[in-house]
Amino acid sequence: MADKTSNQMWGGRFAAGPDAIMEAINASIGYDKRMAAQDIAGSKAHAAMLAATGIVTDSDAEAMKEGLDTVLAEIEGGSFQFSAALEDIHMNVEARLKEIIGEPAGRLHTGRSRNDQVATDFKLWVRDQLDATEGALLALMRALVAQADAGADWVMPGFTHLQVAQPVTWGHHMMAYVEMFARDLSRVRDARARMNECPLGAAALAGTSFPVDRDMTAQALGFDRPAANSLDAVSDRDFALEFLSAASICAMHLSRMAEELVIWSSAQFRFVSLSDRFSTGSSIMPQKKNPDAAELIRAKIGRIFGANVALTLVMKGLPLAYSKDMQEDKEQVFDAADNLMLALAAMEGMVRDMSANRDVLEIAAATGFSTATDLADWLVRVLGMPFRDAHHVTGTLVALAERKGCDLPDLTLGDMQDVHGAITQEVFDVLGVHNSVASRVSYGGTAPENVRAQVARWQEVLG
Ligand code: ARG
Repeated sequence: MADKTSNQMWGGRFAAGPDAIMEAINASIGYDKRMAAQDIAGSKAHAAMLAATGIVTDSDAEAMKEGLDTVLAEIEGGSFQFSAALEDIHMNVEARLKEIIGEPAGRLHTGRSRNDQVATDFKLWVRDQLDATEGALLALMRALVAQADAGADWVMPGFTHLQVAQPVTWGHHMMAYVEMFARDLSRVRDARARMNECPLGAAALAGTSFPVDRDMTAQALGFDRPAANSLDAVSDRDFALEFLSAASICAMHLSRMAEELVIWSSAQFRFVSLSDRFSTGSSIMPQKKNPDAAELIRAKIGRIFGANVALTLVMKGLPLAYSKDMQEDKEQVFDAADNLMLALAAMEGMVRDMSANRDVLEIAAATGFSTATDLADWLVRVLGMPFRDAHHVTGTLVALAERKGCDLPDLTLGDMQDVHGAITQEVFDVLGVHNSVASRVSYGGTAPENVRAQVARWQEVLG
């Protein structure tokens, strides 16, 4: 008989219980209790399969099912006593089940190991998270499309190197983010489809001699099929890495957008006003309204990408199949998932609430000789000049305007003709910012009619 203090799940081989430090490093219950619902769903599917295949009796399976429902109710109701001595969620649930239903609880682990159990639970958890991410991305995309719809023809400066480049439309800028988040969405959907194979029944690593029906459990848990190789099934964590990688790219997009909102809401830019609901004040400077939500969203990439790196390094170099290192997978994923959801929700709220300062945008759009390319294009189109020559002539005109302290449209026709005699009054038509954006009708260009078409396309997709 094993010592009373040794583990009740495997105490047979042990004479003594673990050192307190061993328990502290070994226990994962502090965080893997978040997978309780998934663990119980997995156990219920396993119990039903054990009965259907005759491995346990129907009455034992029925007791397991009812007992597991009771355990879940206790956990959800907050009355469940989690124990670090029982290490993790799997053993906490099973031990409580034993208290409730007695002997049949001991048959639940037939043909199963914690290795396939944890892989299954964690996949179910990540799958739920991919679904939640999808919903949050769609909500953010809808908010961006609404902004684009309202300001399809509002002009603003487009930048390269954060220097004014060419006028663009507000709607076009908003829709650029819709495209990015749409790719994030497709990464989430790809990851979900690829991960949807069930590890349950792989047992410890080699499969089992019991006549388990892995198709049945896979189907009951909403997987497309059972995972085909038991060694792979228990040691694969690339589904979690794919989530973290998609989350990292999405967080990077969020961070870029957050950076723009920080810049745009500054006194120097005043392109947008952020709502009070998503801003904070200063404890000393009464005039301040700070874009804290945007700044925090900008920072979230640090921990999310950090989680991606951390789990990649945990997995690197692990021999097949399971190693306890893999228990370090969960906290990284939980933290990244929580923070991604928070960042997506905060960005959606900010985008919904923010108002673009249309007049400021329009004035800014005309600064920095933003229509110089339109002038060069006119020289090519109307005067038949090679683009390189047109570039040179336009550069000379920009330098002249700079010397005179004016913008390109403020030059006189005489000024223009001093630089190139064939220029006519018509050139002034292309120097206005509205004409500039309206002319950019190439597919994917910034023209308001293009923006409206893209808004309509996405409204249809997003419903
Ligand atoms: N808590 C463990 C984990 O998260 C469960 C699997 C334990 N398996 C084992 N062979 N010790 O990985």
